[in-house]
Amino acid sequence: MERIKLKALLNDMTLEEKALQLVQLYGAFLGDVDVLTGPAMSFAKMPADRPYQVGSLLGEHGAEHLIDLQDKMMAIQPHHIPALFMLDVIHGYKTGFPVPIAIGSSFNPSLAKEICSAAGKEAAVAGLHVTFSPMVDLVRDSRWGRVMESTGEDVWLNCQMAKAEVEGFQGDDFKDKGKLAACVKHFAAYGAAVAGRDYNVTEISEHTLHEDYLPSYKAAVDAGVALVMTAFNTIDRKPCTTNKKLLRDILRDEMGFKGVVISDYGAIQETIAHTTSVDHRDAAKKAILAGCDIDMVSPCYIQNLVSLVEDGEVDIKLVDEAVMRVLELKNDLGLFENPYKDASSEGEKEVLMCREHLELSRRAAEETTVLLKNDGALPLKKNQKIVVVGALADDNLITGSWALFVDKDKTVTLKQAISELYSDVNVSFFASDEISDEMLEAAESADVVLLALGENHTKTGESLSIADITLCKAHRDLFDAVYKVNKNTVTVLFGGRPLALPEVAQKTNALLEAWLPGTCGAYAVADILFGDANPSGRLSMSFPYTTGQLPISYAAFTTGRPKPNTDKFVPYASNYMDYPNVPLYPFGWGLSYTNVEYSGVSLSADKLTKDGKIFASVTVKNAGDMAVLEPVQLYIRDIKGSVVRPVRELKGIEKISLEAGEEKTVSFEITEPMLRFYDDEMNFVSEKGEFMAWIGSTSLTENGAKFVLE
Ligand code: BGC
Repeated sequence: MERIKLKALLNDMTLEEKALQLVQLYGAFLGDVDVLTGPAMSFAKMPADRPYQVGSLLGEHGAEHLIDLQDKMMAIQPHHIPALFMLDVIHGYKTGFPVPIAIGSSFNPSLAKEICSAAGKEAAVAGLHVTFSPMVDLVRDSRWGRVMESTGEDVWLNCQMAKAEVEGFQGDDFKDKGKLAACVKHFAAYGAAVAGRDYNVTEISEHTLHEDYLPSYKAAVDAGVALVMTAFNTIDRKPCTTNKKLLRDILRDEMGFKGVVISDYGAIQETIAHTTSVDHRDAAKKAILAGCDIDMVSPCYIQNLVSLVEDGEVDIKLVDEAVMRVLELKNDLGLFENPYKDASSEGEKEVLMCREHLELSRRAAEETTVLLKNDGALPLKKNQKIVVVGALADDNLITGSWALFVDKDKTVTLKQAISELYSDVNVSFFASDEISDEMLEAAESADVVLLALGENHTKTGESLSIADITLCKAHRDLFDAVYKVNKNTVTVLFGGRPLALPEVAQKTNALLEAWLPGTCGAYAVADILFGDANPSGRLSMSFPYTTGQLPISYAAFTTGRPKPNTDKFVPYASNYMDYPNVPLYPFGWGLSYTNVEYSGVSLSADKLTKDGKIFASVTVKNAGDMAVLEPVQLYIRDIKGSVVRPVRELKGIEKISLEAGEEKTVSFEITEPMLRFYDDEMNFVSEKGEFMAWIGSTSLTENGAKFVLE
């Protein structure tokens, strides 16, 4: 529809119709509202046809159902305006892909794009128009249950992933077949919840907010993301959903976002509990003034927007602007011409869990699994007698908590994968956390015991924060019991968050982080265990020794009393008496089965001018006998600054393939904008002086060269 017709449509709508376009409900509201429970009960009883007139619905899915629902809603809406159907398709709709923290660990944004494209295609054919993804919240505290949904701790990596994910879902034009509109969330800094407790407040300096937390949302905005979701938390003591500085000044004016802003679930209403709004009406007023267009499942807008305008408390202009953005989104999706978009039952049969997507879920897990330790125990030898221990070895809840509609019965467990792919190997399974005499006898007689430890997807996700990230007692006990009878162990970790497990890590001969790998991911884990695939993941989030080190990141700051280069505690230096400052395994850490050698870093010039560029290059050689994907990483340090600068920051990744014996040169371009930061007055600038550039296989690399910015 032409814009002029959209305007005419807006002008023809009643105030009530407009207000309803700014309301999102979920499907249960379309039934008998008397049966609603929980937060939904705070909605006043509505006339039965009202929920059918809202602008968007959350949680409904499936082609046939949504075609039918769209017909009903359009028939009831006075101007026959199509509804938007939205859902959380985060790491898969029917096919489950590895969770985002794992996708981050692929160090491969193209893979992230491919995954989102596949997940989006499944969602689109099931009739959905908007996915509440990508979640790009920076996370440095794994007590927070939602670290599983983020691509991790690093600013630069999260920006690349945000861009790739938006491109994957939306393509060049989200009106196109197989594409849908993406919604970046949770704006802003939801991942900085104090002490890792979900929904908690944040305490972030202006510098940290702008330099670390905002860039990933900006990257999504720059990639053309259609919607932004507000966050539950406060920033500077103000809930994000009613925060005008955040939603209008930063998001719209500074970042140039032109799309739709939607609250998180019930977040407008929650400002009452935050104590910054008096009641629903006050909350509605604050949210619309602040720039929140859609109220997701709260009674605030549906009950109050009309009277707020009629009483002169809210300018109709603000409502019109918000409604226009919603209508434009519908128009950009092509819904005025084709209200069903891609919904097709025939299409569902072709696309959902198709062979291509299942293969992608396996290939993805191959790239997201991280080999944390290996003293030679891996790969397992096919002539060994292997005993597999632990309930997680046969748990199909390894798909991640946002795999809402992923068919768990079709999820391949590690036991199934090993039994199917390695049926000729002598493997027996005790897929239980119970320590039995029979299990210990088998473990004792094995050449190697494979332990599956960690957390399934009921343990990480929204609201599932923990105060202590130590590997659970049942799994420590299981490990200790097995270790007592057989020292030759290999440990596979499942889960959505870094855990603290220094004792297990020290004792086990090999440690493999498989995350929550999705529908066919266990095949990839089995392939890696038996050496038919080479692990190439790198940690997207540090694994600390202990909870007390949190929050933690490799991109730390130096202090006035830096710790000298020693493992011992140094009085009056900035260090702990009981634990190191650094994590057990840092961001960027990961091993493979081959020996990859790096040449020294060579710079095309050691002086960089403001408008110029220099190249930092290395030659990378696969000196082993197995092909590998190697994520070559560039880190930079600004050696002196007018404000304190991180000890190093990731500024580039190239994941290259190397056949056995093959050698490639990798060059990273370095330009002045890559060296900018916020100065004292919050100007985004670079400063002349010396910089270090390191290139290597992990964030610990000391392979570097110095250059000067002139
Ligand atoms: C979550 C969002 C999600 C929304 C809708 C909220 O509880 O915080 O991430 O998109 O629900 O399901």
